[in-house]
Amino acid sequence: PATTTERPHGEVHVGGVPLTEIAEGHGTPVYVLDEAEVRERCRTYRAAFPEAGIHYAAKAFLCRALARWVEEEGLGLDVCSAGELELAVTTGFPADRILLHGNAKSPQDLATALRLGVGRIVLDTPAEIARIAAAVGTGGRQKVMVRVTPGISAGGHHKIRTGSDDQKFGLSLRDGHARHAIARILDQPPLELTGLHCHLGSQITDVRPYLLAVRRLVGLMARVRDTHGIALPELDLGGGHGIAYRPGEPALDLTALAAGVRTELADSCAAAGLPVPRLIIEPGRAVAGPAGIAVYRVLAVKRTPGRTYVAVDGGMSDNPRPALYGVRYAPRLIGRHSRAGAERVTVVGRHCEAGDILAEGVPLPADTHPGDLLAVPVAGAYHLAMASSYNLVGRPPVVAVLDGRARVLVRRETLEDLRVRDVGL
Ligand code: LLP
Repeated sequence: PATTTERPHGEVHVGGVPLTEIAEGHGTPVYVLDEAEVRERCRTYRAAFPEAGIHYAAKAFLCRALARWVEEEGLGLDVCSAGELELAVTTGFPADRILLHGNAKSPQDLATALRLGVGRIVLDTPAEIARIAAAVGTGGRQKVMVRVTPGISAGGHHKIRTGSDDQKFGLSLRDGHARHAIARILDQPPLELTGLHCHLGSQITDVRPYLLAVRRLVGLMARVRDTHGIALPELDLGGGHGIAYRPGEPALDLTALAAGVRTELADSCAAAGLPVPRLIIEPGRAVAGPAGIAVYRVLAVKRTPGRTYVAVDGGMSDNPRPALYGVRYAPRLIGRHSRAGAERVTVVGRHCEAGDILAEGVPLPADTHPGDLLAVPVAGAYHLAMASSYNLVGRPPVVAVLDGRARVLVRRETLEDLRVRDVGL
């Protein structure tokens, strides 16, 4: 996780900056992003997968500075909307290093992708084939991939499992949809099929589902070779690499993943008589998640006979993950040292729902009181990316830290920001 340094009196520094200073200077809630940690994670991926194309999944979190860091570290990008794509390209991200995904791409998504010259469009549904071919026209050629569901169930929660056949994404391997789509793509001169894609799910901590996916997709590549006489040059295994949100939780071992995938790919291809395709991966959470820390201020403490509730000034509007997936975080008191013993408390948000719970059974000092600051580690992925303005609470800012300096990347959403969109009186 973000490199934190403990100082006396409960002070915690990230990127050389005290979190209390950021909370004082920028208000709370505030999201702190450790630039060195993001870059380090990109480098870890490049070292583990030197032969692969590594595309950061922008859906985990995207802002212009982050796009630049990822680009400078030599990664590509995976986007799933015109919005993500435009933001990246207008920041200077080379469009040919970007993949566009989506099970329901809008006309605007496709038009933007073609206008900006996106590297690859990942086809998800048969209707897209003719649509994209027509939009590209006879003069041009667009690289495309096919998203396949390999019939594998993996991932941290049923809502983020995407590799099984019966769900909205992709073309099924088992019932032949993927093969039929491939035949149709190969019939369209404006489309250049570079390979197969799958994304099994998210928050996967076991290497084995990836190895099974390699085996199944190489099997499909062999069928494509037998039927059409071509060896597809690329294989994209998506993202989904699991991380620990609380101490002691398992995470996916990247070195084991890289070694396992390399061996499986070599063996499966050798058995099928195929050249080894170029590997692509799309990590999102594992790049951004551990580099982020959310800082909240305690607004209220309530004791009931069975429980102590510690309520903070954010919640499900900036982090909907506990409410959506039942996950729990590990908040900790920062900024002062307490001699009080620990008490197990329930940390809740400020929103008008009983389910707005950030953490349960967390040990916090028994004298935790309004005004205290709580830091929530591992907050860099799928928090602000999925934030809402529920209850008309503005979305928090993002402050980057590096070498003892802090700078705002995304400013706080003000009440004025919220009001200006309301044009209907
Ligand atoms: N590639 C594709 C095609 C994806 O759909 C996703 C995530 C990724 C890559 C990146 O997966 P990652 O490495 O970040 O796990 N909101 C949920 C996660 C949804 C993931 C959606 N797709 C959460 O907060 O757990």
